[in-house]
Amino acid sequence: MPEEGPSESEAWETLIGLSRLTEPWAVRVAATLHLADVMSDEGGRVEDIASLAGADRTALERLLRFLVARGVFTQPAPGVFGLNAPARLLRDDHPGRMRRWLDLDGAAGAMDRAYGGLLETVRTGKPAYPAVHGRSFWEDLAAESHLAASFSSLMEAHSLALSDDVVSSYPWTKAGLVVDVGGGTGALLSRLLSAFPHLRGVLFDLVAESPEALAVLEAAGVADRCEVTAGDFFAPLPTGGDIYLLRNIVHDWPDPEAVAILRRCAEAAGKAGRVLVVERVVTNDGDQRELTGMDLRMLTLFGSRERSLEEFNALAGAASMRLEQSRATSSAYWLLEYRVPDAHQMGPLSDTSRQ
Ligand SMILES: C[S@@+](CC[C@H](N)C(=O)[O-])C[C@H]1O[C@@H](n2cnc3c(N)ncnc32)[C@H](O)[C@@H]1O
Repeated sequence: MPEEGPSESEAWETLIGLSRLTEPWAVRVAATLHLADVMSDEGGRVEDIASLAGADRTALERLLRFLVARGVFTQPAPGVFGLNAPARLLRDDHPGRMRRWLDLDGAAGAMDRAYGGLLETVRTGKPAYPAVHGRSFWEDLAAESHLAASFSSLMEAHSLALSDDVVSSYPWTKAGLVVDVGGGTGALLSRLLSAFPHLRGVLFDLVAESPEALAVLEAAGVADRCEVTAGDFFAPLPTGGDIYLLRNIVHDWPDPEAVAILRRCAEAAGKAGRVLVVERVVTNDGDQRELTGMDLRMLTLFGSRERSLEEFNALAGAASMRLEQSRATSSAYWLLEYRVPDAHQMGPLSDTSRQ
């Protein structure tokens, strides 16, 4: 008996919905032009909107009519356009920061454009971002300050939304000094230091004294307990930390580089410290859409991947570490605690690290 599936017309709808490109581009153009910021709920004349947004009047009217037909923006009268609930989500000051994730001029836009190279990525297994943009994502951020600022703002919001689980799912009372390796703007570290007044922190990332990071730490009132250190996590890390925290770092890198970063953490942590990896962990349970979406994004941007617990353990093993404990959280993120074991506890190492 063949399996009952969708009808042929439902199958067409599914495929067309998945493959149509006009809608995603139209919404991104509306977001990039800040249309929701220059429009009102009751509506304004398209020529005024075009002038405020720096757009061609006729082209903008056609874009808005397209979006109105799909439920974003309203058209209360000919040539007059206003906001509705989906359009209001595109305001720059909306706490969801949707506009910034859709802004084609920002870091998210640069990441999205890399999908133009997905075919070559799937043919070769190589990341699309450098092929599309001429240099790696991290080189792009280093060269273009507006992209770096945009990425910081995206990561800060993302980071804050996901920090509570990290704060509540680990015995931080036992630690003294936390080194947040690739800690970005310090949103997670400032949460941790606020929640645990005995903790001290080192925020370690590529950018020297990033103004965003200092502002985040000062706003949280924890700047006096946190050092901001610029450096490369492929080089030796500051020593003396009890915890070397790596959140959303390992998944940015293919195996050899991931092992090299873990090895730097292991060297700095020594036998007394711990390396705490906070990442999504691939399991076969639950809705796979978010996880597979992020996995494809990692492939496209960096040639890297989301990993299972066994895969993380193999990387840590190649960096001379062993899993002490793993804790799932209420999100897809897990906390994986690794340490350098005593020599007699360690079996032979497989070495796949970057030379
Ligand atoms: C995806 S973000 C994660 C930020 C932060 N850990 C979080 O969870 O919000 C990756 C971070 O790695 C940093 N990074 C990339 N390459 C680096 C390197 N070679 N050395 C130090 N930091 C690096 C980036 O600047 C960025 O802040």
